[in-house]
Amino acid sequence: MCGIVGAVRNSEASGFLLEGLRRLEYRGYDSAGVVVINHAGALERTRTIGKVGELEQALQRSPLTGMTGIAHTRWATHGGVTEPNAHPHICNDTLALVCNGIIENHESLREVQRASGLTFTSETDTEVVVHQVYLHLQEGLDLADAVRATMKELQGSFALAVVHAGEPGRLVVGRQGPPLLLGRTDDETFVASDINALLPVTRSYQVLENGDVADLHDTGCLIRNDRGEIVERPLHTSAQSGDAVELGDYRHFMQKEIHEQPRAVADTLEGRLLGDRVLEDSFGAKAKEIFDATRQVQIIACGTSYHAGLVAQHWLEYVGVPCEVEVASEYRYRRHAPREGTLVVTISQSGETADTLAALEEAVRQGAMGTMVICNVPESSLVRESDLAFMTHCGPEVGVASTKTFVSAMTGLLLLALVLSRRHGFDAGFETHVVRQLRTLPGALESALAMEDAIAEMAQAFGDKAHALFLGRGAHFPIAMEGALKLKEISYIHAEAYPAGELKHGPLALVDEKIPVVAVAPNDLLIEKLKSNLEEVRARGGRLYLFADPASGLVESEDVRILHVAPVDSAIAPIIYSVPLQLLSYHVALIKGTDVDKPRNLAKSVTVE
Ligand code: AGP
Repeated sequence: MCGIVGAVRNSEASGFLLEGLRRLEYRGYDSAGVVVINHAGALERTRTIGKVGELEQALQRSPLTGMTGIAHTRWATHGGVTEPNAHPHICNDTLALVCNGIIENHESLREVQRASGLTFTSETDTEVVVHQVYLHLQEGLDLADAVRATMKELQGSFALAVVHAGEPGRLVVGRQGPPLLLGRTDDETFVASDINALLPVTRSYQVLENGDVADLHDTGCLIRNDRGEIVERPLHTSAQSGDAVELGDYRHFMQKEIHEQPRAVADTLEGRLLGDRVLEDSFGAKAKEIFDATRQVQIIACGTSYHAGLVAQHWLEYVGVPCEVEVASEYRYRRHAPREGTLVVTISQSGETADTLAALEEAVRQGAMGTMVICNVPESSLVRESDLAFMTHCGPEVGVASTKTFVSAMTGLLLLALVLSRRHGFDAGFETHVVRQLRTLPGALESALAMEDAIAEMAQAFGDKAHALFLGRGAHFPIAMEGALKLKEISYIHAEAYPAGELKHGPLALVDEKIPVVAVAPNDLLIEKLKSNLEEVRARGGRLYLFADPASGLVESEDVRILHVAPVDSAIAPIIYSVPLQLLSYHVALIKGTDVDKPRNLAKSVTVE
């Protein structure tokens, strides 16, 4: 989703700006642009739709020269994917601005600005922001004051960066929502939406707080809060590697990340187990105090992370810990009846998902006893804002479709269930048993990956399909949901997931020979129930594609294709059964020729509401 980079340098800025945009590409975007203040004190702008590579080619044809500049990757919200809608937006040839976020009151501001004689060249909500800053400059305000005055008039959630042609060597940025990080060297200053873009120049960074406006010069920067007071924000040092993530021999990052899962899970478990016990320090320094006070768990997340939460609900309730799971975008706008001793657990690969962050804030406001995040990005907003953090340690995930972070988040959640089971008086032998199973996880994941060739062959049956149904029961219903989400997002085939027992309450009407029905069938307590549900599908002419335990007793036939998953203990089965579904969607996407790593309309990190 939209990314911002900016710099006040003592050499040409465009190289850093372009590399910064490349490093923000993973967030998802559909157009990109850059502005510099040239050596004659004029704004020079280049914008392109499509990939950052297009922008790079345009800059090779006509280089931009200047030491101060801003750049942006845009993920369209207001206005289509067109060059005029791409950022930076310019007002009166003198003021250029980039924005990440949404301005909710853009229509009313636009009317007032039109009445003041300003004209518009785009359909975006951002253009009203640059006009508004311009109007405040006309009133005689200084650039930083004009930005602060504008921010107070905007409704919504946004981060912005502004340069003025008349002030080379100066860049003003402001945050009211999406993160903005400042980086400095001795004689240069930088800003970016996340640390990846800063790493080529510095590891030291500061994070702006909501309401902050920072005035960047080559010699340093002055930060004022929303009351106009000068403030210092803590200086952090990033531990992240500055190296770009390499694809190696893989065709796509998604394929690479699916195959990294045995190592990813081994890294998630590394240092978290001692003998047959889970080390509760893995969750943070205050873990003991917070877990002692935990009476129930409220999980909040979006998308794939939400599905991990739904699996965890089964584990937590199994060991006696009451648990609710909610989609963040719904949770944040709902009134909640307070429940004493609630530990709010957010799950997020990126740690920057706007709805999850807002839901966390709301949970704290409504009196959550403690907060914890399961996350893959150590320097992210959710990690900063939570009392406890369990880092998945998977390494960067580049593919928009989450895979390795899903299995690692589930692994972390299973550890949480074990730690909490002790306080709820659950049989200690259970922890011993599950920890032993967890130690087998990397090997079991390898076995699941070995199914790839057979899955690629099965995928042939899906290439011409418009719809698919995914079925599961118990903790495997969320796995079916995740399988359906993967298929939708990377192959654009409409897919829906149902708890298998729910079929006859409606969805069975959809079943005919044209709709493939995929089911996960581990040999658990619900296998006989599932088998009856699958017979209901067959009886209506449905074609079944099953991932099943060899002991399930399911039999292949003309209308039933079965791929066997090596036997696995039910405690870790949901983690294992997610792998064949990932591989299925990947191979269907290959057949359909979609952009696997950057599916249309989607962003890796959803930083707007
Ligand atoms: C799924 O493949 C997506 N990447 C998406 O559903 C994602 O899980 C969701 O947007 C939440 O992201 P987060 O884990 O970074 O918070």
